[in-house]
Amino acid sequence: MIQHAIVRDPGPDAATGLTTQSGAPLCFEQLQHQHTAYCDALATLGVELIRLDPAPGFPDAYFVEDTAVVTPEIAVIARSGALERRGEEQSVARVLSRYRNLTEIHAPGTLDGGDVMIVGRQVFIGLSRRTNPQGAAQLARVLAHYDYQCTRVTVDDGLHLKSSVTCIGDRQLLLIAPWAARPEFEDYDKILVDPLEAHACNTLWINHHLIIPQGYPQTRALLKATGKSLVELPTRQIRQMDGGLTCLSIRF
Ligand code: GLY
Repeated sequence: MIQHAIVRDPGPDAATGLTTQSGAPLCFEQLQHQHTAYCDALATLGVELIRLDPAPGFPDAYFVEDTAVVTPEIAVIARSGALERRGEEQSVARVLSRYRNLTEIHAPGTLDGGDVMIVGRQVFIGLSRRTNPQGAAQLARVLAHYDYQCTRVTVDDGLHLKSSVTCIGDRQLLLIAPWAARPEFEDYDKILVDPLEAHACNTLWINHHLIIPQGYPQTRALLKATGKSLVELPTRQIRQMDGGLTCLSIRF
């Protein structure tokens, strides 16, 4: 069971964060509502929230997941591939040091937590615009000490690995349809997401419930058919800043 989640309230500078999305500008008030709904959902699922204050000067800092990778044995403090985001990890490291021994990714390695998907003892590490081979190798070396096996996955679309694939239960993955034949995932049960609903790939399986983004009817129908308990949350503003449901917390 997941007991804790680190979350950080979005700061009033959130609209200046990194994004590849065009269209309507961010509505900060709605972002706050969506973030609050997310925190409430985690609390309802029995998770104790560890809340960090907004980090002035770091408009993306509420996407806390990118700053660390936490297993039951260790916390690995990340080094973002986005220069603008380096420094966000410091306040997260201070909090995590109360719960875990820490280690960190060193230069020239870069790693964003959004590129790391842990499925039991198997860890998938996305090689992306944010995570380079050195960062992936450093993380794999640390986790090998604790008997995790790491597999690299090339991320050729989307910001992070978990923009295109998330774990939705025991050996079950939800992933973007063009990735269906990827050999890295051949041993897993898969549910495929139509590229028109690509954002729906980013879900959060937590304490026997699956949190999914609102507004993706095809994917919702596929997931409903699995019999899982679904919790739907609005994510429009989070998406506007290239974020998703996993990005908003560090769970452990
Ligand atoms: N806006 C989230 C990110 O680019 O990391």
